[in-house]
Amino acid sequence: MIFDIITLFPQMFSAIRDEGVVARGIKKSLLSINTWQLRDFADNKYRSVDGAPYGGGAGMVMQVKPIRDCIAKIKQKKPQSTVIYLSPQGEKLTHKLALELANLNSVILLCGRYEGVDERVVEHDVDREVSIGDYVISGGELAAMVLIDTVARQIPKVLGNSASLNDSFAQGLLDHPHYTRPEIIDGQSVPEVLLSGHQANIDAWRKQQALKISQQKCPYLLKK
Ligand SMILES: C[S@@+](CC[C@H](N)C(=O)[O-])C[C@H]1O[C@@H](n2cnc3c(N)ncnc32)[C@H](O)[C@@H]1O
Repeated sequence: MIFDIITLFPQMFSAIRDEGVVARGIKKSLLSINTWQLRDFADNKYRSVDGAPYGGGAGMVMQVKPIRDCIAKIKQKKPQSTVIYLSPQGEKLTHKLALELANLNSVILLCGRYEGVDERVVEHDVDREVSIGDYVISGGELAAMVLIDTVARQIPKVLGNSASLNDSFAQGLLDHPHYTRPEIIDGQSVPEVLLSGHQANIDAWRKQQALKISQQKCPYLLKK
């Protein structure tokens, strides 16, 4: 899967390109991340890509032409790419959406800054808007990295241990609790059943705990 990212801050993506699960996926050639500096598509010597808002008001707006030209450049080689604008106004990024996006071959992620992009980009150039939650962050880069990480985890063989696909939400419930050495610390013990070696009992306990935790923390999952 190829992620082409349109951004004013390409260097931010070293955070996922150089370390962790996404970096491992890149090393295994299961995904790639290309960053595109939007300022390279500016048509002025100041490399400016934003303008004051029509109608007045605070903040600047990202202009249509550099974004449109950048998308066109990427699409020369990947005409089928889906263009996703990271936006607080988009559909929520969920496990289900991550699974759906993991089936795509190439995605263009448009990262907004300032007040966001000129609405004509949303109307004409963007296929989907995706939000990481009902709050506003300062730029689309962090949202794009969240999206890439969660989608990458769903690409077969990216995770060393596919058991991690049993994480929260994968089976419609939250994950069960996890414990590791030592058996007792500061008077707190690991549940007996996990030390029993009886796999059927362990599995049953984990299932019961997942149900209990889901009921407590995310009751809407059980309603589904
Ligand atoms: C300061 S925000 C602009 C917010 C916009 N004026 C609004 O209120 O809808 C700048 C950029 O950050 C990104 N962004 C902010 N919050 C986001 C969220 N919850 N999910 C995804 N992207 C977000 C978008 O790319 C947005 O264009």
